[in-house]
Amino acid sequence: MSVTDPSLSQMREELRVSEEFLARYNRPGPRYTSYPTAPVWNDSFGIDDLEKIHAEANREETPVSLYMHLPFCESLCLFCACNVIIQKDKSVAPPYIEVLKKEIDRVSLAVSSSRPVVQFHWGGGTPTYLSPEQIEDLFSFTRERFVFSPDAELGIEVDPRVTNRAHLEVLRKLGFNRLSMGVQDFHPEVQKTIHRIQPYELTRDLVLGARDLGFDSINVDLIYGLPHQDPERFAATVDQIISINPDRIALFSYAHVPWLKKQQGAFVQFLPEGMKKFEIFRTGLTKFVEAGYLYIGMDHFAKPGDELAVSQEKRTLHRNFQGYTTKAGADLYGMGVTAISGFRNAYAQNQRDLSAWQCAVHDRGLATMRGYHLSEDDHIRRAVISRLLCHTVIPKKEINAEFGINFDSYFEPELQRLEVPQADGLILLSEDEIRTTWLGRIFIRNLAMTFDPYLEKQKLGAKPLFSKTL
Ligand SMILES: C[S@@+](CC[C@H](N)C(=O)[O-])C[C@H]1O[C@@H](n2cnc3c(N)ncnc32)[C@H](O)[C@@H]1O
Ligand code: SF4
Repeated sequence: MSVTDPSLSQMREELRVSEEFLARYNRPGPRYTSYPTAPVWNDSFGIDDLEKIHAEANREETPVSLYMHLPFCESLCLFCACNVIIQKDKSVAPPYIEVLKKEIDRVSLAVSSSRPVVQFHWGGGTPTYLSPEQIEDLFSFTRERFVFSPDAELGIEVDPRVTNRAHLEVLRKLGFNRLSMGVQDFHPEVQKTIHRIQPYELTRDLVLGARDLGFDSINVDLIYGLPHQDPERFAATVDQIISINPDRIALFSYAHVPWLKKQQGAFVQFLPEGMKKFEIFRTGLTKFVEAGYLYIGMDHFAKPGDELAVSQEKRTLHRNFQGYTTKAGADLYGMGVTAISGFRNAYAQNQRDLSAWQCAVHDRGLATMRGYHLSEDDHIRRAVISRLLCHTVIPKKEINAEFGINFDSYFEPELQRLEVPQADGLILLSEDEIRTTWLGRIFIRNLAMTFDPYLEKQKLGAKPLFSKTL
């Protein structure tokens, strides 16, 4: 897309919104890395249920996606909403790896050798908290227990502040082909306030080193809405990122959840809100699109040739707990404390407390804490929400054919509710489809929420469950 492309002027035109508009749309809502979302899952789902789901997946011979959670970080970034354990003293790593190996071993017994691993992702926390030797040991242990597809996607989250050349070399040697690194923002005052000092040069050198070693795809995480950010400052960060030339960019909305992460209260008075936060996002969006990145959806951008963009074009894009993925149809086996698994018919989450996870794995090899069996209605709604988030359009005939329903009568109340976003310019409704506009793609979480009947019941709780959609 060139800077004079008519769709760019259309985008700029659509992104002129009022305070009143933002006040109506910027409300708490899920990010839909699953449907139904995690607060709907229940504690009565346990290890026995997971074992049955494992057996079902094995019978269906679905491809396999593995996720491993490495929760440790050396220091706490104050904005962070991830499941982390802060531990400067690295003596915690070996006992964690030992238990993780038990879980990997047990999960591998549930996956027959005829099912290829098409994706293996290491997330955290900070997986490169581990030494290169520990990474090699853990990877080799896993590799011996599963059959990896030759073109498997092997990805890892790296923090440039703790990742060195030896890490990159061992990762590449093992076959990792995707790196995702946290940046957030380069402005010194923002970095100081969030307790994350990470100079531009350090990040640039890691990207150059990774390119040199031949990693296929490099992703950078940014956040808009951090304390002391403003559009001009963020524009400078975006320009620096564009100069580094990553293949993908995740531009997350800062999730302010102080009821879960108390440390976020430390900078609350410096947070940009409402129109100012929207301006920061608009700055990032416009600059990335002008630089030739495609807006994949919600918070992701990719270069036109990147697999994420190609997969969206081919309509094979899928969404799971790591965000967007090109591996539709694979069942996800999560390992490690708090890790989530996602199957065709169920979700399961591991114990969130480190010692509870360790004890459970010692006892039975698995550590399910809660989970969920999808109903037929959940399947239908998940397909609708997934189409919306991955392809920005809901083709009614596809849903009708897949589930044997009549979309217009099944979703009559939802279609009525969509008249408001239609009038606000978020969607185009026609006989055959629901199609989002540029503005609708930004507030796509709000559109997805229209199809989520659980939200009504969740409003009753005392504490909010989700961050705001902008
Ligand atoms: C596990 S971290 C990435 C790897 C590594 N630990 C690092 O920080 O470089 C995952 C990403 O989640 C995002 N993230 C964490 N807390 C967030 C929050 N409160 N709001 C939005 N995004 C957040 C950040 O962009 C972060 O890079
Ligand atoms: S942002 Fe990354 S490094 Fe910082 S605390 Fe969160 S997981 Fe750890």
